Amino acid sequence: MTKALSNPHLPFGDQRSAPWYGKSILTVKQFSQDDLKYIFGVAHEMREMVERVGTFDLLKGKILVNLFYEPSTRTSASFTAAMERLGGSVIPINEVKYSSVAKGESLPDTIRSLECYSDVIVLRHPEVGASALAAQYARKPIINAGDGIGEHPTQALLDLFTIIEEKGNVDGLTITMLGDLKNGRTVHSLSRLLSLYDVKLNFVSPEILRLPGEIISELEDKGIPVQEYALLDKAISESDVLYVTRVQKERFEDPQDYENVKGTYIINSQSLASAREDLILMHPLPRVGEISMELDDDPRAAYFRQMEYGMYVRMALLAMVLGKA
Ligand code: NCD
Repeated sequence: MTKALSNPHLPFGDQRSAPWYGKSILTVKQFSQDDLKYIFGVAHEMREMVERVGTFDLLKGKILVNLFYEPSTRTSASFTAAMERLGGSVIPINEVKYSSVAKGESLPDTIRSLECYSDVIVLRHPEVGASALAAQYARKPIINAGDGIGEHPTQALLDLFTIIEEKGNVDGLTITMLGDLKNGRTVHSLSRLLSLYDVKLNFVSPEILRLPGEIISELEDKGIPVQEYALLDKAISESDVLYVTRVQKERFEDPQDYENVKGTYIINSQSLASAREDLILMHPLPRVGEISMELDDDPRAAYFRQMEYGMYVRMALLAMVLGKA
């Protein structure tokens, strides 16, 4: 242990009775506002520790499996970075085609094998509910890193952490989400998480990519004012946060449908002409043209900072489920 870790003011310690010890993270529906406060408090401490000492041995000797059945850059790399910053190590399985999955192994069997070698498994899978299924069979915590068009809870946590770090609070904000709201799992998770707060939500999408009615109903049941639009110009001036998403090409059955909608929105300086000075522009990334690079140097562009926040949030989650926070 580094000297800094014996600091009694830090919330780190071996707390096997900690509420998140051994738990899987499958959906944002698991979290209350108090949980979020706790997670973000730990993430904040993680940020300070990284800035102060870089790497420290909180999870020394622990092993994470990154099991990715779909492509990933940020999620897999930030979980790896998070684990290694905490002194743990990682077994990366990014190319399932080179693993026994290609021989037809079932998800439960793959999970039951990999948990023999590890303490926690991060899973990305194309099917909705895959992480919940994995968790039924696993003895070790499963962290959902995206299950098809279902949820992406750790992304939503880092998105919310970004909003709090950048805006100072959540209550009272108007948040506008734009793009592929039907297939975008990050939007599904983030809108549910935001419904714990006093926010107004605008959803801007082409007709065929509207947010699923089931999620709209969930939000309305919680008393969240929700407005849907086809064009951004109706919503931009009142927005505190503009959250842009990619049209999810891989989810389309008919490639022509993708071709018809792929270029619907391109956010550039002109699109932000009537936006607030203190708007923040977010994107889970990767972007494929929907935010013009001309905005990258605009201080309102938060998408690269958002990625960095992700590592601190994932450090917090790993420490929590492994009983060290
Ligand atoms: C997102 C995802 O995989 O859902 N990416 C990410 O994790 N940062 C968004 C996307 O792929 O469009």
